[in-house]
Amino acid sequence: MTNNPTIQELSHEDRSFPPPADFAAAANAQAVEYEKAAADRIGYWEEQAQRISWETPFDTVLDWSDRPFAKWFVGGRLNAAYNCVDRHVENGLGDRVAYYFEGESGDTRTITYSDLLREVSKAANALTELGVKTGDRVAIYMPMIPETVFAMLACARLGAPHTVIFGGFSASAIADRVKDCGVEFVITADGGYRKGKLSALKSVVDEAMEDCPEVRNVLVVRRTGQDVDWNDDRDLWWHEVVDRQPEIHTPEAFDSEHPLYIMYSSGTTGKPKGIMHTTGGYLVGTSFTHWAVFDIKPDKDVFWTAADIGWVTGHSYIVYGPLANGATSVLYEGTPDTPHRGRWWEIVQKYKVSILYCAPTAIRSFMKWGRDIPAQYDLSSLRLLGSVGEPINPEAWMWYREHIGGNRCPVVDTWWQTENGSILISPLPGVTETKPGSAMRPLPGIVADVFDDEGNSVEPGNGGYLVVKEPWPSMLRTLWGDEERFKKTYWSQYPEVYFAGDGAKIDRDGDFWVLGRVDDVLNVSGHRMSTAEIESALVAHPKVAEAAVVGAKDEMTGQAIEAFVILRESADDGGDDVVNDLRSHVRSSIGPIATPRSIMIVPDLPKTRSGKIMRRLLKDVAENREVGDVTTLADSSVMDLIQKGMKES
Ligand code: PRX
Repeated sequence: MTNNPTIQELSHEDRSFPPPADFAAAANAQAVEYEKAAADRIGYWEEQAQRISWETPFDTVLDWSDRPFAKWFVGGRLNAAYNCVDRHVENGLGDRVAYYFEGESGDTRTITYSDLLREVSKAANALTELGVKTGDRVAIYMPMIPETVFAMLACARLGAPHTVIFGGFSASAIADRVKDCGVEFVITADGGYRKGKLSALKSVVDEAMEDCPEVRNVLVVRRTGQDVDWNDDRDLWWHEVVDRQPEIHTPEAFDSEHPLYIMYSSGTTGKPKGIMHTTGGYLVGTSFTHWAVFDIKPDKDVFWTAADIGWVTGHSYIVYGPLANGATSVLYEGTPDTPHRGRWWEIVQKYKVSILYCAPTAIRSFMKWGRDIPAQYDLSSLRLLGSVGEPINPEAWMWYREHIGGNRCPVVDTWWQTENGSILISPLPGVTETKPGSAMRPLPGIVADVFDDEGNSVEPGNGGYLVVKEPWPSMLRTLWGDEERFKKTYWSQYPEVYFAGDGAKIDRDGDFWVLGRVDDVLNVSGHRMSTAEIESALVAHPKVAEAAVVGAKDEMTGQAIEAFVILRESADDGGDDVVNDLRSHVRSSIGPIATPRSIMIVPDLPKTRSGKIMRRLLKDVAENREVGDVTTLADSSVMDLIQKGMKES
């Protein structure tokens, strides 16, 4: 199983925190939810599906006959954008704020549900004018600005699945995704603001497009006003095309299983996987969990998911979940330390944020910067805190609870994945007595477990592999264009059971502790990267003969990327220039998030007799541990050389 050393550190905890009585009394989800779901799981999901509006009601809740291809709410028809926007306006909530947008440099916009309806309708009309049709895929490569949401919802309105590409990805990563997904239409911006500087987006898309002749149009939002190159045959300004459109657009209802979006995520091979979500089940899953886990009271709360829309957390809890529930959210463009390290707390104070959802890596940065910074702001509006993306170490959990939550806010550590669509394991904040570092229990309606190698549930107190034993509405339906990989990745370890790729432990009370990936997927600051993807980028460099990448424990980012590289004989013998060269090569082939923390030039790599690289041993070196068993190596002296090199560097 996983040799992640955090296992032992993580799963012992005597502290526990019951929900405050007033919170518990007023909570959306009470203990009865567990009982109802346990008594009739399918009936429970049928009831949850009433949270959203169906143009045609479904006739079957779940069709699980063609395993592992699930169909939820079969026969139902709906429009996701109508559910997120129009119906709230129809219900008299047009003046409610959907987003408080805060630009990094301090520019602001308040967008009500009526504003959202107008902007999304205009964008949908514009896309229609440009020839985007139901079923066409649209790529979105944008900063964190309201137009990103308008673009996504315009696509949803037309039944054109969007594929949002995180704004930090490189031109070649964009080109890979655009080609894999058969995209002919791209939406981007001239740039954005990041860490006080202008980031370029259009120029990166231009470079990607050299490799994507199928793309007919690139629609460009003017955000920064920076100079951009222009291709008259292909490029269009958003303000020239969208602003002149009619403000009315009639949404069409689509089948419950119509694809809503594709989100690429790293897997264990070099090629990212196009994770496909459909309309009905995804919207039910995000709406339900946003209600149950975040206890949303849409007429009172100000909800803030401090994540990027380019990742699934942003899709589910900045866009679809909160909008389906008619909630008010904060949308913040920038980073936590620009222009100063109190920026988040200034935002909480300014908008009276009541629910904050972020990643442990951010919390660890705040810990490092010191408690004095949040102490300068009024954080009394907060009533609930959430964490997502990686295991949260108990110290960070405790710090979050005390210094941000004033010891009064429940903390929900939420486990889920891009594939899951919405939260699967988490406390219910008004019910669960939480333990620092534990995601606690599967939500009502979710049947998760921890299996040993043979597919038996582990005894309490033991570790194994995290699995989900029954389908759930917001589960991925397939990998775009690759059903075989879908079956192999998630459904081949155990028959008809979803394999998450995470190690986990169930403690003696039956609570879950998620320990991290058991495969070659890294988690850097809550972002998923595959070792194979970074290795492929390194090997594509003319000076590199072979490369191995491992994730090493890092105090701030959770894991850091460590690369071991064998140079080609024709290359010079290493040194800083080569290392810097390789670092920038990885940045430009994948994106800054994939940059290795260190690159070590080595004479050889540890391999088994069958030629498999033993990354486990490299991980020992990278984490400064005694190197484990080397007896299966073809040449055990390799590790001595690597260790010696590590000490000298
Ligand atoms: O290893 C788990 C970790 O993040 C992985 C999923 O990454 P991604 O698809 O990018 O989605 C991240 C946001 C939903 C999981 O396989 N992970 C996510 N949440 C937690 C976590 N590990 C421990 N505790 C969590 N709460």
